[in-house]
Amino acid sequence: MKRGVTTMQDRPRSTEILAPDDAGIARAAALLRAGELVAMPTETVYGLAGDARNPDAVARIFKAKGRPAHNPLIVHLGELEAAQALAELPQAALRLSARFWPGPLTLVVPLRAGHGLAPAVTAGLPSVALRLPAHPVARALLAAFGGPVAAPSANPSGRISPTRPAHVLAGLDGRIAGLLDGGACDVGLESTILGFRGGRAVLLRAGGISREALEEVLGTSVPEDHGTKITAPGQLASHYAPRAPLRLNVRMPHPGEVWIGFGPGCDAAELTLSARGDLIEAAARLFAVLHAADRLDRPIAVAPVPDTGLGAAINDRLRRAAAPRPA
Ligand code: TXA
Ligand code: MG
Repeated sequence: MKRGVTTMQDRPRSTEILAPDDAGIARAAALLRAGELVAMPTETVYGLAGDARNPDAVARIFKAKGRPAHNPLIVHLGELEAAQALAELPQAALRLSARFWPGPLTLVVPLRAGHGLAPAVTAGLPSVALRLPAHPVARALLAAFGGPVAAPSANPSGRISPTRPAHVLAGLDGRIAGLLDGGACDVGLESTILGFRGGRAVLLRAGGISREALEEVLGTSVPEDHGTKITAPGQLASHYAPRAPLRLNVRMPHPGEVWIGFGPGCDAAELTLSARGDLIEAAARLFAVLHAADRLDRPIAVAPVPDTGLGAAINDRLRRAAAPRPA
């Protein structure tokens, strides 16, 4: 995992592991300035960070992940003012940002002219997805870099999202310049993504902030969006997929299956999302448990998880992990 001495363009190279201290953050910022990619911890999942204004860096993100070019990236920023310089935030977006930023909320809003982002970041759309992450290491990196950072989850496209450094390396070692080691991610689910239709917030992706919490701040319901034309991997039926097949709502596993439990009554389960039936704990553990089950290389069966609060986002990810895979 040490940096190779000579690095030729198409030769696999090693990924630098950086400590989350001043020196590591300075090195990561220098790599970003040089157009290289660095995996950074956020409170949701690890992000694969690149300079959002540099077309080469953005192209490297798509290549490292094997991500289809029509799928736009989230731009990560340190401050609300930077968001307002790039895009127009409707009233509802401002209210939500005041309550939930920095944090696991992404807002898709209209771009301003002269934004300076590489066109591939938004896949040519007139809107951009913005987020202010709360993780101290991500915030330190954004401050040291001083510009917008494009960052999808740091996993090969379609696979399980990374919530630990080892998950990032399992998918991307040698394909990215650096990894800032921030330990395990707290929230464990990607950010909730909202768009705005005629000023009204609509849900594009369930995530780390529950719909109930958003509705409470806005004082209105937040309907699911059905009008989006983007067929983003995160919105595709099959995503977050382990190699083995996966069944849902299983109270009685078949012989040979890896049973993933939730709550009491799953004492026989080999792995558990939360033995005490806590949805916050289950969210934080979800992807690590799926990675662990995947390593056992047997079919996977998951116990029922209630659909309230963070359970909605957990079930969203589980349904996509269980969906039939494209051939
Ligand atoms: O928690 C997170 O959101 C993590 C961390 C690293 O911040 N990032 C993440 O990125 O989950 P990614 O690329 O895996 O998912 C981004 C989602 C995609 O489904 C993409 O289609 C959607 O955001 N998106 C980005 N820009 C958009 C836009 N302009 N309109 C609609 N959807 C957009
Ligand atoms: Mg992703």
